[in-house]
Amino acid sequence: MSDVHGQYSYTNPHADLYLYLSQWSDMESYLNVGYSRPGQYHLHTSSHLRLINRLAEGLLQLHAVGPHADDNRLLDVASGRGGAAVHARQRFGLQVTGVDITPYNARRAASNARENAAWPAVRFNMGNSMRLPLADGSYPLVWSIESPAHFPNKPAFLAEVARVLKSGGAFTFADLLVVDNVATASLENRQIYADFLRTWDVPYLETLSSYKTALYNAGLELKHTEIVTRYNLDILNRDCALFLWLSKPRWLYNSYKRYLRWRTGANLDNVYQHVLASHRALKLGMIDYGLFWAVKV
Ligand SMILES: C[S@@+](CC[C@H](N)C(=O)[O-])C[C@H]1O[C@@H](n2cnc3c(N)ncnc32)[C@H](O)[C@@H]1O
Repeated sequence: MSDVHGQYSYTNPHADLYLYLSQWSDMESYLNVGYSRPGQYHLHTSSHLRLINRLAEGLLQLHAVGPHADDNRLLDVASGRGGAAVHARQRFGLQVTGVDITPYNARRAASNARENAAWPAVRFNMGNSMRLPLADGSYPLVWSIESPAHFPNKPAFLAEVARVLKSGGAFTFADLLVVDNVATASLENRQIYADFLRTWDVPYLETLSSYKTALYNAGLELKHTEIVTRYNLDILNRDCALFLWLSKPRWLYNSYKRYLRWRTGANLDNVYQHVLASHRALKLGMIDYGLFWAVKV
């Protein structure tokens, strides 16, 4: 059973990873794994912004040649702590409505918009992606960044996106994908995959091809898709391997455990379990990271 609220409200052990990462990156604004080309420093806020820019640029290209080019309103589904929405305002001049299911994130996102002088052009509401609290055909632009993984029914989410999009409107999303034949290859692999899902509070993942089918069935025409695993998950996996290696000497682990508790409040044992489960699945190549751009037909 996945516990999204716990993970994002600091009330389950999986949240300790965000406290740990907050030493290098702004985890009170951004909750995605980012995007970095070789030579670019990854464990930093700039990597979150690169991912957001990548998605936004493709979305705005579709928007520019679509029927609603003069309407700059974006719906951010599962907007998290609001960093992506605020960035969409500051860099691309969009008006943004964010919707998220976790009260802590919705509150944090509203504060971020105010602190960055982006309110009221950037606003946030509580809401469930499975039943968006919005009228049919109400937005020309929709995105969802690294959130659908948590949704219990991705085809139903895509149907909701198609419902709230204006005809000819543009949509982009980023999500984790399962490489089905690897994750289900053996009993051992199935267990590793199950542990990965549990650790990230994810009920299940789609494959690239099941997403293509679901987009088509929802009436969303896929314009472009890209697997960018080597620009984010592979880097994450390399960092996981380093973390596990550095955790081997007990004296070092125990000293760091005391330091981390004092510095961030996180329990290093929880971080260790999270990293271990992630590394086991990532090193087998079970998980990919996909970007998608589509238009409502
Ligand atoms: C990994 S975070 C990404 C947040 C943000 N898009 C970003 O890039 O920083 C995933 C978000 O999905 C939200 N979420 C999970 N299930 C949801 C649902 N059914 N409806 C709306 N939001 C949901 C969580 O509360 C969390 O804020």
